[in-house]
Amino acid sequence: TNIFQGRSFLKEADFTADEFYTLIKLAEHLKDLKARNIEHHYMTGKNIALLFEKTSTRTRSSFTVGANDLGAHVEFLGAHDIQFGKKESLIDTAKVLGSMYDGIEYRGFDQSIVESLAQYSHVPVWNGLTTSWHPTQMLADFMTIDELFGHIRGVKLAYLGDARNNVANSLLIAGSMLGVEIHLVAPKSLQPEESIVKIARQYSNSFMITDDLDQGVEGADVLYTDIWASMGEEDLWGKRIKLLQPYQLNAQAVAKTHNPNTIVLHDLPAFHDLKTSMAQDVFEKFGIKEMEITDEVFNAPYAHQFQQAANRMHTIKAVMAASLGNLFIPQAMSQP
Ligand code: CP
Ligand code: NVA
Repeated sequence: TNIFQGRSFLKEADFTADEFYTLIKLAEHLKDLKARNIEHHYMTGKNIALLFEKTSTRTRSSFTVGANDLGAHVEFLGAHDIQFGKKESLIDTAKVLGSMYDGIEYRGFDQSIVESLAQYSHVPVWNGLTTSWHPTQMLADFMTIDELFGHIRGVKLAYLGDARNNVANSLLIAGSMLGVEIHLVAPKSLQPEESIVKIARQYSNSFMITDDLDQGVEGADVLYTDIWASMGEEDLWGKRIKLLQPYQLNAQAVAKTHNPNTIVLHDLPAFHDLKTSMAQDVFEKFGIKEMEITDEVFNAPYAHQFQQAANRMHTIKAVMAASLGNLFIPQAMSQP
């Protein structure tokens, strides 16, 4: 038996803390196998659909490389390549894909889409980011924390910026589940919705949501930020820049932790070091040079966002292998 077999990965709260931790440990194991060049074809003969209604670098590559390493095949179905979203309903699409593929990844907008895909396809569906949640990101983030600190429980993580987006929602829930003290530091209008806070309360009473930067980052072991305008919100740059400039992850914010060992994480993509016309327009129009994270912090030795990005692959591989692979996982491990 395998406790994850056949299960979808739609949001953090569908899993127990022990199950979530077990997936992180499985990812660490798979990373070790890959580093030692040991074959791990747990998914030979499986076919995976990758549905992307939004763009992606890390998530798409993680599913593709991870599936290849596991011996499975993937097919990329971009927003403009398939009938869904134009001439075919979600339910019909789900039924058809479920009859051909063994598993489906979905990245896009409403959480209800990924939930319906799972309901009507009858195969495991993995959430590669929706407007509400980014659960595969969480496995990579807490795996990176486990690697850097040697443990997860008891770590204090302060997230600065748009605390009403998918990444902030997921950090609050996954962190609270795993015994991490989560501080969301954001202006009032960009703090999480009450429905999200309610879920977090089921796991923890030690999280903090504040607009006070000094109080929010004091003692933090991890400072974390994300882009100020998420995919699909690009018309909000002006508003966001105005609201979020005081919450930039810069050297002053790092100093305010009063913790000499603070590390920095960013899920990426980061809005920095950009020569694209979109970026030039935004920087010029609003007369600023840096956004959610300064180059100084991004390039500092205490910033570990590329280790974090690399761990996306190992963790996504763990999710696929656990739900579809020929693996023996009789019970969940408890976190020490
Ligand atoms: N962090 C993350 O999900 O990156 P992509 O958008 O590149 O997949
Ligand atoms: N909050 C960002 C995360 C990107 C990985 C977005 O949704 O665009």
